[in-house]
Amino acid sequence: MAALNVNVNAVSYDSKDYWVSRFEREESFEWLLDYVKLKPVLEKHCCKSNSILNLGCGNSLIPLHLYDEGYYGHSLNLDYCENVIQNMRDFAETRYSPEQMSQECFPKWAVADVTDMKQVKNCSFDVVFDKSTADCLACLDNDGSALRLYESEIYRVCKDNGCWISISYSKHRWENLDFRNKWLLTVDSVECSDDNVLQSDTSFNIARPKQYQYIFIFKKIPQTL
Ligand SMILES: C[S@@+](CC[C@H](N)C(=O)[O-])C[C@H]1O[C@@H](n2cnc3c(N)ncnc32)[C@H](O)[C@@H]1O
Repeated sequence: MAALNVNVNAVSYDSKDYWVSRFEREESFEWLLDYVKLKPVLEKHCCKSNSILNLGCGNSLIPLHLYDEGYYGHSLNLDYCENVIQNMRDFAETRYSPEQMSQECFPKWAVADVTDMKQVKNCSFDVVFDKSTADCLACLDNDGSALRLYESEIYRVCKDNGCWISISYSKHRWENLDFRNKWLLTVDSVECSDDNVLQSDTSFNIARPKQYQYIFIFKKIPQTL
């Protein structure tokens, strides 16, 4: 039987090599919601004094927008790619003064695997934030074990009654995990396509279905002994 010749150009979002090589070429990129769309979500669930842990930060500029907007809690941004962490520190240096960068509230970037955050203490952040990092981890396996590890690490580092804001393109992202007695979950969605009608070069206009991104707000229920 002739071999099936399929040209698969799938992107390896689950591969660290993919991200490292992407960050060699890309200065900044915002996955899913940009700061303008994210702002009302943060204003609703986050105080300006909150400490914020941003997981799989990539080269997103959200941490710098938060600083510009006067968020003054400790802000730690983690990614497993060494190059993007160095790039973000260098990028910040080109836009902010040494005085600003030495402030306690200026964002910090550090290398870490978010499924095993040894350097982050238990119950140490008011808000844990993840924008499309869970989408990436979901590509790692078919049984959700990476997502389960990730969620248990987030539960460990989030303060009691703190919150975890997870933004995903999939409304099914967290449906297979059992959160009973750990998190109170509310889900919201944001329409993300500004233009729902594609202008074609024929006389037809092609309707495009509306697209949504999903905002999962998890409130941590404290562990009882
Ligand atoms: C889809 S991008 C999102 C980047 C950023 N959060 C944003 O909103 O633009 C996913 C990011 O997760 C990072 N990442 C994936 N798996 C990781 C892991 N196990 N530990 C730390 N970072 C990880 C990638 O390097 C990449 O920067």
